[in-house]
Amino acid sequence: MWIPTVTTAVSGLLVASIANANPTPPAPSLSYLGTLNLTLAPPIAIGVGPLGDRNFFAITGGSFTGPVLSATVPPVGGDWGLGHPSVGAFKVEARYHLRTSDGANIYGQSEGPQQEDLVSTHTRIKWETGHPRYEWVNKMAAVGIGSSDPELKWTAIEMWKVEGPKREGKGRRRK
Ligand SMILES: *[C@@H]1O[C@H](CO)[C@@H](O)[C@H](O)[C@H]1NC(C)=O
Repeated sequence: MWIPTVTTAVSGLLVASIANANPTPPAPSLSYLGTLNLTLAPPIAIGVGPLGDRNFFAITGGSFTGPVLSATVPPVGGDWGLGHPSVGAFKVEARYHLRTSDGANIYGQSEGPQQEDLVSTHTRIKWETGHPRYEWVNKMAAVGIGSSDPELKWTAIEMWKVEGPKREGKGRRRK
């Protein structure tokens, strides 16, 4: 008599644990950092190498405007964009500097693919600085949604920082 009861209880637990195996975790959110607008020189064709068809667009200037910082873009760096003509894919590989209105220098890298609409790009963003006021940029994870002038004289990237979700519990600083 007791066996079916136990079996029912165990299978009930199993069902519950399977149902809870992949609960949707709390989603992070994105906060708007600002929009980077880079003006670009005409491309220099590196040509088709082992990784694809690479073209270099030198940065001639630009600006970053947004709620958390504003900056000018000095004429250094560029986009070493990589095309794969055989698979129709294109990837941004950009490096740039931001000179903030309050005097910090930030080194930025953006990398990621063009989307199916052939207009937008989705990029992973890394920023780096030694300026104490902008120490937070070294710790952020951020993404960019870019679009370009059809003549590729400029490219504008809306940048978003990943926020949360906040975790409970004890952590420790990792070395
Ligand atoms: C980016 O800058 C260029 C040159 O100043 C300007 O013509 C263009 O409208 C800007 N693009 C965006 C999306 O703000």
